[in-house]
Amino acid sequence: MKEATLNPDRLPRHVGIIMDGNGRWARKNKLKIAMGHRAGTEALREIIRNSSDIGIEALSLYAFSTENWARPKPEVDALMSLLLEFFRSEIDELHQKNVRIRILGEKDALPPQQRLALIAAETRTFDNTGLKLNIAINYGSRAELARAARLLAREVAEGIRLPDSVDEAAVAGLLYTAGLPDVDLLIRTSGEMRLSNFMLWQCAYAEFVFPKKLWPDFTLEDYHLCLAEYQTRSRRYGKREEE
Ligand code: FPP
Repeated sequence: MKEATLNPDRLPRHVGIIMDGNGRWARKNKLKIAMGHRAGTEALREIIRNSSDIGIEALSLYAFSTENWARPKPEVDALMSLLLEFFRSEIDELHQKNVRIRILGEKDALPPQQRLALIAAETRTFDNTGLKLNIAINYGSRAELARAARLLAREVAEGIRLPDSVDEAAVAGLLYTAGLPDVDLLIRTSGEMRLSNFMLWQCAYAEFVFPKKLWPDFTLEDYHLCLAEYQTRSRRYGKREEE
């Protein structure tokens, strides 16, 4: 196994992960799809723990998209149960590690048990100052942007904002990620190379890494290889390299 050497001074501030490949992993191992998602949750635990240990500022995970409701009901139910189980089993340790949990997405449309567990996790960890762990659930980036536009339109209609004051900072301040740095590194596993409506605004200048492994097979070593790959990239933000 190749070991990555990481420069602790050049870690990405914000890592986004699209955890793709649970379904293919389950098929490959002749297991039910729910087992793929369960194995995916296991893989996730280690990545969260390590991100906190090495001092990543923010980690955003795509757990359930607004489009995922269209999957077969047993799969949606399995994902909802896993989410609940995850929050119930991990919250004590995450809180102990000073992790602040934030949910990206529309919580109101979730089943009551899940909604309450997510709100409880956000409330309990609100004052924590360690890793900012963002979990996107019932999340879609276009819906997030439309929501920000709606909130701004409302402020203008109510006379508390001038139309010309709507700038990038005003939009960013009304996204679920308000106050967080932009995504520096976006990882999508399983070899697929697309954003699938994940953090379109926040990834404007992100570096992309697309490891081939299916998410449940993604290890800490793989994660560190992605971080090392990020450290080789030259980030110019549309400008010229320094002379
Ligand atoms: C994509 O794999 C993965 C998902 C739609 C769900 C991701 C969820 C988890 C890893 C577990 C639950 C999350 C938390 C935070 C506890 P896919 O099923 O689309 O894979 P495929 O493309 O191979 O079918």
